[in-house]
Amino acid sequence: MPRDAHDIKYLFEPRSVAIVGASHNAEKIGYKILENLVNGGYEGRILPINPKGGEVLGQQVLTSLEEAAAKAGDELDLVVTAVPAKFATDAVKQAADVGAKFNLVITSGYSEVGNIEEERELTSYALERGMRIIGPNIFGMFSASAKLDANFGPGGISAGNVAIITQSGALGLAMIGKTAVENMGISAMVSVGNKADIEEADLLEYLMHHDLTKVILMYVEGVGDGDRLVDVLEEATRLKPVVVIKSGRSKRGAVAAASHTGSLAGSDEVFDAIMRQCGVLRAESVQEAFNLCKFLSSASLPKGENVVIITNGGGIGVLATDACEKYNVNLYDDNETLRDIFDDVTPGFGSTKNPIDLTGGATSPDFTGALNAALEHDEIDAVISLYCETAVFDADNLSVMIESASAKYQEQGKPVVFSIFGGATTEDALDRLTKQGVPVFGDVYETVACLGGLYRHWRNAAAPPKRIVEESIDVDAIKGIVTGARADGRSFLLAKEGRDVLAAAGIRMPETRVAKSMDEAVRYAEEIGYPIVMKVVSRDILHKSDVGGIALDLENREEIIDAWQAIMSNCRARVPDARIKGIQVSEMAPHGVELIIGARRDPAFGPTIMFGMGGIYVEVLKDVTFRAVPFSRAEAIEMMKEIRAYPLLLGVRGEERKDIETVLDTIIRLGTVIQRCEGISDIEVNPLMAYEQGKGAKAVDIRVMLSENPGGHTHA
Ligand code: ACO
Repeated sequence: MPRDAHDIKYLFEPRSVAIVGASHNAEKIGYKILENLVNGGYEGRILPINPKGGEVLGQQVLTSLEEAAAKAGDELDLVVTAVPAKFATDAVKQAADVGAKFNLVITSGYSEVGNIEEERELTSYALERGMRIIGPNIFGMFSASAKLDANFGPGGISAGNVAIITQSGALGLAMIGKTAVENMGISAMVSVGNKADIEEADLLEYLMHHDLTKVILMYVEGVGDGDRLVDVLEEATRLKPVVVIKSGRSKRGAVAAASHTGSLAGSDEVFDAIMRQCGVLRAESVQEAFNLCKFLSSASLPKGENVVIITNGGGIGVLATDACEKYNVNLYDDNETLRDIFDDVTPGFGSTKNPIDLTGGATSPDFTGALNAALEHDEIDAVISLYCETAVFDADNLSVMIESASAKYQEQGKPVVFSIFGGATTEDALDRLTKQGVPVFGDVYETVACLGGLYRHWRNAAAPPKRIVEESIDVDAIKGIVTGARADGRSFLLAKEGRDVLAAAGIRMPETRVAKSMDEAVRYAEEIGYPIVMKVVSRDILHKSDVGGIALDLENREEIIDAWQAIMSNCRARVPDARIKGIQVSEMAPHGVELIIGARRDPAFGPTIMFGMGGIYVEVLKDVTFRAVPFSRAEAIEMMKEIRAYPLLLGVRGEERKDIETVLDTIIRLGTVIQRCEGISDIEVNPLMAYEQGKGAKAVDIRVMLSENPGGHTHA
C-alpha cells in the first residue's frame, strides 16, 4: 500500500482513538493519556484496551484490538501504543492487521537505544498494511481541531493558533507548560521522536492548509529526507510563518566532509542557509521562538517597508537602530515627511528624525499622540515603540496606554511592537501585557527581532514564485568521464578529466595543453601567449610544488626552456620512479577576485552548492554560504549577497564591478552538474577568478570526487 494510503487529516481529526495499554494505575503513562483524552473533551470514540478489561475513568475497557476494530468499523483512525517495548511491536502489528490508519508509538526502546532492526521491521510491516507510524519514542500529540489531547503531558492545553512539531520529547512536554505560562494557544502539537515513518514534511503538508494554525514551530535535531523537507517548506512558508529551532551540529555531515567544500560545510551552516532559502525563520533559542510565534500568530502583515521608532530615550533609540540593521528592518528616512507627521507631537528639543525622540520628559499622552500620528499616516507601515521608565511618566498608566495603542493598531492592521524597560512597576506592566498577548518585551533586540521576523516572512511570501533554473550542460560527456575514471579504479578525477568536466559544463578555464617535448612546450606557450604556468603531469606526483614540479609567471621563450629543464630534473631527482607524461603549459590566469564554488551531495539535503571567497585563505575566512539545489537565479543572487566580501564583486575603491553574471552562471552550471550527475559527490572550483564586467571569470583549479568512495581527490 502506498504511504499516503490514508489522508493525514485522520491523524489530526480521528473519529476513533484506541489506547493500547490503558492502565488502571493512575501513575502509568497509559492512564495519563486516557485521562487527557477524556478531560480534553475529545468527542470521537474512545477505545481503551487492556487485557484486564474493567473500567477506567468511566470508560469501558476492551480486551483486544480486534474488539476495538469491531466497534469502530472503518473509523479506527488512530491507535496510541503505550505498552513496554517487548509487547509493543506485536501490538503495533496487530493494529495494522485490524486496519488502523495511524499509530502513535509512545514506547521507547527502539532505534534511540540501537534497536534499529526491530523499528525497521515494525515500520515496514505497518506500511505494507497501510498504517502510518508516528514515533516510536514520543509523548503523543494534541489537535485542537478534534479536541484531541493524546499525550502524557500536564493536560489542560489551551487551544490557539500555533502548531508545534517537536523531535525532543522532554522539551516538547516542557513547552506545553511554557505555552500555558506565556498564554500561547496551540492548534496542534506532534511529538515525532525517532521518525521511523512520519516526519516533519508529512505534518507540514497538513498544517500549512490548516485553518486554525497561523504559525508553525518546529524543534529539529536531525533531518531525514532533506530534499522533500525543502520542497514542503518552500510551499508552507509562502502560506504561513514557519519558525525552526535546531540544536546541535550533525557529526554525520562532518564525517562525510572530505574535500575542502565538505570541511567548510559543517552541516549546521548548511542547515541554516537552507532554512533561509526556504523562507524559514530560524530562532536561536526557545524564548526567541516563542516570541516570534506569539507575535506572528496575531500580527497583521505590513503593507510596506517604512518603519519608525518612537522613543523617550535617545540611547535606547540607538540600540533599536542597531537592532534594525541586524534584523533587516528598514527605518523610514524621509525627514520632511517625518517632520510633517511628528512635529506637532514632539517637543522642540526632541527629534522628528527617525528614531522619533519624544525625550525623557514624555508623558503617556505624548506617547499616545505620537503613536496615533504614526498610525494615521499611510506612509508609515510599522512602529517600534520604546519606553524607558522616567520620573515624569505616570507609570501606572503605562499598561493602559500600551494596551489601547496596541488594540488600535491591531484594528487598523498596522504592526506595532513595544519595548519597556524600568523598575518594578514597569516589570509588572510587562508581565500583565505579555499575558494579554500584547507584543511587548523587556529587551530592545527581542522587540526588533519579532518585527524583523514578520518582515522576513512577509517578503518571502510576497516574492514571486521561484523559477528553478538549470543550464544546458553536456551530461553524457560528464557521465562518460566518470565511468572512465571508475573503470580505472579511481574515486577521483585526474586534472585533465576535471578540466573536461568543466568544459562539458560550459565553464571557462585558462587555456591549457600538455607538451611532450621542450619544443612543443615552446610552441604551445607562443600560441597561448605569455605569461605562462608550467606543471609536471604525472599521476605519481601528487604534491607538484613540493618537488619543484611547477613554474609560474614565465614571460618568454628562454624562461620556458629553463623551466622545462628545471622541472624535469627536479622531478627525476626527487621522485625517480615517477611516470612523467609531459608538462602542462597553461595560460597564467590574470589576477581577479578569487572565489570558491563547491558542489556536493549533503547527507541530509542532497545536492548543495557552496559559494564564497576563495583562494588560500578559504578555511580561515570562512566567508561562504550554502544552498540546496535546484534554485532560482534570484536565489543565486541572494546567495551571492550573503557573503561579507560581496562589495568586492560590486567594485570598491574605484575598481570596476566584476562580471557577476558569469559568476552566477558558474554557480548554476555547477549546481546542474551535481544535480544531474549522480556519480559525482564533490566538485570544488577554487579559485574562480572573477574579472571586470564583460571579461568573465575563469576556473583556475578544480577537484572532483566520485560518489562511491569520497576519499580521494583530483589535483590539477
Ligand atoms: N495490550 C494492552 N494492554 C497491555 C498489553 C497489551 N498487549 N500488555 C500490557 N498491557 C497493559 C498492562 O497490563 C498495564 O496495565 P495495568 O497497569 O492496568 O496493569 C499497561 O498496559 C501498561 O503496561 P506496563 O507494563 O505497566 O507498562 P508501563 O506503563 O510501565 O510502560 C511505556 C509502558 C510507558 C510505553 C514504557 O514502556 C515506555 O516506553 N516508557 C517511555 C515512554 C517515553 O518516554 N516516550 C518518549 C516520550 S518523550 C520524553 O522523552 C519525555
